[in-house]
Amino acid sequence: YMVDKGNHRHFMEKEIYEQPEVISHALAHYVDFIENRISPTASAIDFAKVPSLAISACGTAYLAGLVGKYWFERYARLPVEIDVASEFRYREIPLSPQSAALFISQSGETADTLASLRYCKERGLKIGAVVNVRESTIAREADAIFPIMAGPEIGVASTKAFTCQLSVLAALAIGAGVARGTVSKDEEKILVRHLAEMPRIMGAVLNSIQPKMESLARELSKCRDVLYLGRGTSYPLAMEGALKLKEISYIHAEGYAAGELKHGPIALIDENMPVIVIAPHDRFYEKTVSNMQEVAARGGRIIFITDEKGAAASKLETMSTIVLPNVDEIIAPMIFSLPIQLLAYHTAVFMGTDVDQPRNLAKSVTVE
Ligand code: G6P
Repeated sequence: YMVDKGNHRHFMEKEIYEQPEVISHALAHYVDFIENRISPTASAIDFAKVPSLAISACGTAYLAGLVGKYWFERYARLPVEIDVASEFRYREIPLSPQSAALFISQSGETADTLASLRYCKERGLKIGAVVNVRESTIAREADAIFPIMAGPEIGVASTKAFTCQLSVLAALAIGAGVARGTVSKDEEKILVRHLAEMPRIMGAVLNSIQPKMESLARELSKCRDVLYLGRGTSYPLAMEGALKLKEISYIHAEGYAAGELKHGPIALIDENMPVIVIAPHDRFYEKTVSNMQEVAARGGRIIFITDEKGAAASKLETMSTIVLPNVDEIIAPMIFSLPIQLLAYHTAVFMGTDVDQPRNLAKSVTVE
């Protein structure tokens, strides 16, 4: 059926602004907001019985899976083996047939992800598909389908599918924690309330940060290289920020674990390469700020994406500080995705690239 851009210049922009709404739909499928509990739809795989979980995907879906790994390990105490699909299937990973495997794919047609799925299926693992297209091959071949309900995504650079994938993975991980006895009923209630607040907070953030992201994008569009840093779940977000920027603006960007800065990328720091630091005021905040200090001490220009507490706690001089509301750790990755997406989007608009159809990229990659 027909999808149009509405009042937006590009599908990507429209899809960024759709996120509060589509995430509400996705959450409604996995969360019972009356009882404040994760719904049984999240337990189509019995996570209580599995010794470990394998996750495989490509591109942005892989980075959503990487955030998922942190959640399944933290909340459900479930060890997670994750890799990009093109490596996963060739690694000869020792996999237990009692385990489960999740395959994350917007299109549900990515060839490498499908091949990883078949590899796990042959070995007897229980297969879950986290997909947007429910009629897709990956969905059809799975034992359980976890739809992300993002609606059609037209922009090649994935935005709303990413945050919907994250929202579904968060619900699955909390549900797994409840099933495994590592998340108490009270904790479940609190986490679910945080999820419930997410669409409203996203809407408020989208309404407030746009002008700032646009002026920052003007600066970024003059740069040749950009480094993104993050720790914990902000590390996959740093990689997603870099991926988004390079995909649509063609500016070289890298996402790095903040702690790895001193093991290489610090050699590149000068006034020409902005460093985007993603650091909510979480358990890792102090450590990341000290990495940021290392950047500042070498004359690096810092773009600091943080929250109110994080902004108040830092005295470092930055090129720009983006201040988001203080939110619980479970929803921070979704909220912090927004400035990252807008920054890439507006930079690409300044560069004059074909934002929705970047060169050499395809929305769905059906060759291995
Ligand atoms: C392509 C797209 C990416 C996407 C990746 C995986 O490279 O350009 O945006 O993340 O494929 O696609 P999937 O449909 O499996 O999520």
